[in-house]
Amino acid sequence: MQKILVTGGTGYIGSHTVVELQNAGFEVVIVDNLSNSSADVVEGIVRITGIRPAFERLDCLDCAGLDKLFAEHRGIAAVIHFAASKAVGESVQKPLLYYRNNLASLINLLELMPKYGVENFVFSSSCTVYGQPDELPVTERAPRKPAESPYGNTKQICEDIVSDTVRSGAKLKSILLRYFNPIGAHPSAEIGELPLGVPQNLIPFVTQTAAGIRPKLSVFGSDYNTPDGSCIRDYINVVDLAKAHVIAAQRMLTGKSKSAVETFNLGTGRGVSVLEVINTFEKATGAKLSYEVTGRRAGDIEKIWADPSYANEELGWKAKETLEDTLASAWKWQQKLGR
Ligand code: NAD
Ligand code: WQD
Repeated sequence: MQKILVTGGTGYIGSHTVVELQNAGFEVVIVDNLSNSSADVVEGIVRITGIRPAFERLDCLDCAGLDKLFAEHRGIAAVIHFAASKAVGESVQKPLLYYRNNLASLINLLELMPKYGVENFVFSSSCTVYGQPDELPVTERAPRKPAESPYGNTKQICEDIVSDTVRSGAKLKSILLRYFNPIGAHPSAEIGELPLGVPQNLIPFVTQTAAGIRPKLSVFGSDYNTPDGSCIRDYINVVDLAKAHVIAAQRMLTGKSKSAVETFNLGTGRGVSVLEVINTFEKATGAKLSYEVTGRRAGDIEKIWADPSYANEELGWKAKETLEDTLASAWKWQQKLGR
């Protein structure tokens, strides 16, 4: 059984990926400092798969601790690196925290991997690297735009750190996965997204409003150059997204990579407006959403959606879940969390 190290494995996308890795027959070691997740997530994973992953509460900034971890868990075949700080607004307030956490964690891993003969690396990147693309749908060949936030900048710099390390001749292969907007939860509702405080992202705000935790959802802007005036995004089901990580790891482990660094968009290819999300949520769940249209949110991209054809063809991966089912899964998870 091949062993995969998943950093940030108790987080939102990481936990769903651990489940899919276990379902695919991999042994998983999770590293997480629990700065944005809880150790209880491991129990949710166990309830779904019946398999307990190894869990080490450890900070990826702790190089000596990571070194010890690699030594104790010999034979790691690949690292999937989710651990990062991800709140765009917070990154504007605390840029150094974001640069330190996101860059130094990556550097520590890349420095330690050769010592333990680990050659395969999957990195969580983001469609944020495209800014507002000139052409839609956006392909991987589109130029990266100057980052709108320190968080976005860390994703660009991390992509470059990985590419430069590979180019330096290091014995390393990597797949950079650019996620669009991951949403939803595992259909079992055993794991899902756990936003701390007032959610900044649309779907947790929608489900918390429907649950009565928030009085009203604000729709940020109705005067955009889109069919209904609200912003457009590509919302991708988190389980679909998780499965792409398994395929990416398998691709490197079976020598199928076409180059030492490959980049893939992970999205559905379908752009959906905020108002469409609201309508679909109401239809899918029967819940009623109280909302009002307010002003634009500073720094928002008007519209973006993926051209996922490269991932579809090369990885043999495709987003399968409908938006209805995905929103229903988010609602089921919210109901489980309660008020
Ligand atoms: P998350 O916050 O739920 O998960 C990240 C996990 O990493 C958390 O459990 C946190 O405790 C842990 N972590 C953070 N810093 C750490 C450190 N120094 N050492 C050990 N653990 C640490 O976030 P997520 O939504 O699951 O995102 C996972 C990755 O995907 C991140 O790199 C994020 O930037 C990227 N991403 C997320 C989205 C999104 O919309 N959710 C979109 C694009 C890219
Ligand atoms: C989606 C749409 C909002 C909340 C962010 C990061 C990005 C990526 C994903 C990691 C937008 C609108 C939202 C609300 C609203 N993360 N909205 N009312 O902005 O696409 O991307 O998360 O890499 O880097 O910037 O996602 O969920 O915040 O917003 O109308 O209360 O919903 O204006 O159009 P976004 P989001």
